[in-house]
Order: sequence, then structure tokens, then C-alpha cells
Amino acid sequence: MTYEERMKQRLQELKQKEIINVMGIESSCDETSISIVQNGQKVLSNVISSQIPIHAEYGGVVPEIASRNHIINIDYVYNQALKEAKLTSLDIDAVAVTYGPGLVGALLVGLNFAKGLAYGLDVPLIPVNHIAGHICANFIDFVDLKPPFVCLIVSGGHTAIVLQKSYTEHKVYGSTLDDAVGESFDKVARVMGLKYPGGPQVDKLAKLGQNNIVFCKTHNFENPYDVSYSGLKTAVINYVHNCEQKGLKYNINDVCASFESQAFDDLINKTIQVSKITEVNKIALAGGVAANSYLRQKMTERAKKEGIEVYYPNMSLCGDNGAMIASAGFYKLKYSQLQPDLQINAQPTLALDFTKSFLA
Ligand code: KG4
Ligand code: ZN
Repeated sequence: MTYEERMKQRLQELKQKEIINVMGIESSCDETSISIVQNGQKVLSNVISSQIPIHAEYGGVVPEIASRNHIINIDYVYNQALKEAKLTSLDIDAVAVTYGPGLVGALLVGLNFAKGLAYGLDVPLIPVNHIAGHICANFIDFVDLKPPFVCLIVSGGHTAIVLQKSYTEHKVYGSTLDDAVGESFDKVARVMGLKYPGGPQVDKLAKLGQNNIVFCKTHNFENPYDVSYSGLKTAVINYVHNCEQKGLKYNINDVCASFESQAFDDLINKTIQVSKITEVNKIALAGGVAANSYLRQKMTERAKKEGIEVYYPNMSLCGDNGAMIASAGFYKLKYSQLQPDLQINAQPTLALDFTKSFLA
């Protein structure tokens, strides 16, 4: 029997198994992370080796350096993940791995490691979309959270308001027409000379400033739930350049506070509106930008007034991590029709396929 044939059978057996340990492997950008999660929710270990200090020197992630460091780190991270979970490799029922989106070289390190491991242990390989992983981080912290819920996806590459109807069906209500919100945070931070990664720095400084600079007015789009960030980003960059050219000192805290509220207020309103029109009174935040304190607080305040409950992952699960990949792997194993395949390739530009399940 080939690996593929054996795995078809194994997947059927796993669907009946009471306790399933999934190992999740994440290497799409600058974090090498491996985790073991039981039944999609109980984190037995979540080891994250971050390369931020290495890339900060260059003002952003250098893909070649990221790949090399994943190669250096991955074996240690794997052994640590088993050790902290107090398990051996024989306790692993399936290996889930991010296959996109991300940096191709970085993805390939995790993916090839996962393929070798799955083949060696004779367990299914579960390819996971990184964004689906971010969504599933919510299931880890909130054991009672189940679809349907509205999900606001905010990351370095995606911005979308989605109705998660079930584990296998979703509908997109709105998305960005240009830049992603995280990308605009990073560009704005960079023009002001803030250290990489820019989002957390802007978040920190915004707390010390006032929303007293109007960068641009909100626009009406054909789809009322769509958003746009390139105009806001350019307005902030122009503001900073203008001040510099005139030799004027700008208040960095006020720029951060004004940018942050203008980046989020409209998005928060639109997410609440989707929750109201769909009559689904649960909103979950997903993606790296879900770590933003203004977004968390404002969304919670606004939603409370409407009787809507807001969920967001613990800070440790907002950034890239293997636990969210293991969790997504578990739900994919449970609810989708997996075709075991060791030929799967890295897909750097993989998008959430909004016509299919987020687990597809
Ligand atoms: O989801 P993620 O880890 O990467 C992608 O999968 O794209 O998100 C990274 C993004 C970066 O743009 C980073 O600046 C942003 O999340 N970010 C934040 C915060 N923490 C991370 N943006 C705003 N406020 C934060 N606290
Ligand atoms: Zn991410």
C-alpha cells in the first residue's frame, strides 16, 4: 500500500478517535514554531523561536536570512515541542503545516520538515492555510466558541469581514480594495523611523497621543462593507514628509493615535453592521493585527452596546505560532475531505478561498 492509500484509511480511523494529538508547524515568515494541540483546543506545547531581533537590523524580514534561520532552528524547536508536551513522536496522530501564504523559502523549510516527519511516522500530513490558522487561534482560548460567528481578519496581508457560517462554509461581506491594514501599519511606522515590526510600536505610541489630525475622509464604496488603506497610508506618509521638508517637528504620538483610530473606526463599524444584518451576535478577531489594543478595546465597547460578544486570541496566540496551525489541522481533519498528498507544494500567494471553506 502506498502512503496515500494508507493515509486514506488512517484518516477514517482518526475521525472516530477520542483524543487526537496534532503537531502544528509554522514557518511562513520569521517565526519557527512547533506545537502539539489535543483535539484542536488543548495546547500541550507551543514553542516559538522568533527571528525578530535578527531582521530588525534590516528594517524588515530578509527572506533568505529567514529561510536559513528556520533551517538552523527547526530541529531544536521540534524536540522542545515534544519535551514540553511530555510526549514522544509516536504520540503524534497527524502533522499539520502552513503551506501558504508566506515567503516561499521560509515555507519550504517547514513544509519539507513536515513531509519527512509525516512519512517517517506514517501519519497524515495536513496542509493548512496560514490565515485559517489565525482564525482557529480563537478556538483554543474559547472552548465554547463555535460557528456561526462574524470574523474580522486583520493581518499583514489580509483584511476581510467574513461570516463564518459553519466549519466548512463562509461568506465574505467586505474586504480591502488595496493594502491590508497590517501592511499600512508597517509602512507608516517605517516612515517615522520606528523599529520593525511597526504595528506594535504604533500601538504603544498611540496610547500617549490624541486623535487630532484628520488624514483623509472615509469613502463610500460600491460594497458598503469594503475598506481601503492605501489613501490613509499615503496621507500619513505625505504628512510626515511635509513636516520634514518644512523643518517642522511633528508629534509622533498624535500621528500614531490619529492613524490608528482612522484605520480602525470604519472597520469596526462595518464589522458590527455585518453582525447586525446577519443576526449573528458573535465577532471574532483574527490575524497579527488582532493584537492591537485600540482595536480590541473599541470593538468590545462598541459591540457591548449592541449586545454582541467579542472574541480575540490571547496575545501569545495572535502572532504566528504552531498551535493555531495544529488547531486548524484538527478541524480540517474532522470536517473536510482531506486527500493525503506528499506532493503538495508551498504556495506563497495562497489566499483564503472565499468560495470554499476557510479550512479548504
Ligand atoms: O498575521 P500576521 O502575523 O502576519 C501575516 O500573516 O500577515 O500579522 C503581522 C502584522 C504586521 O503587519 C504587524 O505590524 C501587525 O500584524 N501587528 C500589529 C500589532 N501587532 C502586530 N498591528 C497593530 N497593532 C499591533 N499591536
Ligand atoms: Zn500571520
